[in-house]
Amino acid sequence: MTEKTVIITGASKGLGAATAFVAAELGANIVLNARSTDLLAEHVAHIRNAGGNAIAVPGDVSRLEDCHRLVEEALTHFGRVDSVINSAGTIEPIAPIRRADPGIWQKNLEINLLGPMMLIQAALPQLMLHHGRIINVSSGAAVNAVPGWSGYCAAKAGLNHFNQVLAAEEKEVTAITFLPGIIDTHMQEVVRDKGAGGMPPEQHARFLRFHQQGELLPPEVPGGALAILSLYAPAEWSGQLMPWDDPRIQHLRLQYSAGH
Ligand SMILES: NC(=O)c1ccc[n+]([C@@H]2O[C@H](COP(=O)([O-])OP(=O)(O)OC[C@H]3O[C@@H](n4cnc5c(N)ncnc54)[C@H](OP(=O)(O)O)[C@@H]3O)[C@@H](O)[C@H]2O)c1
Repeated sequence: MTEKTVIITGASKGLGAATAFVAAELGANIVLNARSTDLLAEHVAHIRNAGGNAIAVPGDVSRLEDCHRLVEEALTHFGRVDSVINSAGTIEPIAPIRRADPGIWQKNLEINLLGPMMLIQAALPQLMLHHGRIINVSSGAAVNAVPGWSGYCAAKAGLNHFNQVLAAEEKEVTAITFLPGIIDTHMQEVVRDKGAGGMPPEQHARFLRFHQQGELLPPEVPGGALAILSLYAPAEWSGQLMPWDDPRIQHLRLQYSAGH
């Protein structure tokens, strides 16, 4: 068990919510962030009913003041911040570059890239003090071009490289980019629903097939790996891009958790 405090963005749904539940079971204090206030309140109640500690700090990671408030409220309630998990994300626009809406590109980069940058900066004093951990949720799309996903691919590639710079600058913290696999979440629904008009048919069909054939990962599977990394990743992994099924994470999991 641990007394650590973990901030998780994108914690209303999908991977972020699943990670919050596992990290709470592992004994961490959880600070859940997203824009959906009601969902966050439900998750906090669920964690508290199971004997855990959690607060909700609703907000938009693309707003600097919300990033600062997130860290301040974590400190007010729990007295420290040990880890930040940047899981908030958006896939849109799904459209070829020649037709993509620049306003939605801008929002994509603000949520997927600028948000994590601003939150990390806001939390760094605490993270350095406690030799903390930052886990940035990336995507295979950061390194493999997916036609129709230009904003998302560019933002996640930027996030990977930002993490490298962070790891090179700050030796007091452990900064990792995480590849969660293809997960059964709202984001995949968006790809299935909106991909037909914005992706080449064979690419879109691939994602329909993942769903039809039951190949999507349940969020708690990569969420378990993410929770363990955020609490126990060793300093020598800083700067690395780690897939959810990296055997080293499974090893950490065996070392530190009973059920996950
Ligand atoms: N699903 C996959 O197959 C897959 C694959 C590779 C990587 N990923 C990555 O995994 C992460 C989690 O995605 P997911 O699949 O769990 O998607 P999801 O179910 O759509 O969840 C996205 C989360 O981000 C939050 N969010 C979006 N914009 C936000 C903002 N401006 N401020 C704060 N929170 C915001 C959403 O909550 P609100 O709407 O309530 O704000 C929601 O909680 C993302 O970074 C995604 O890129 C997913």
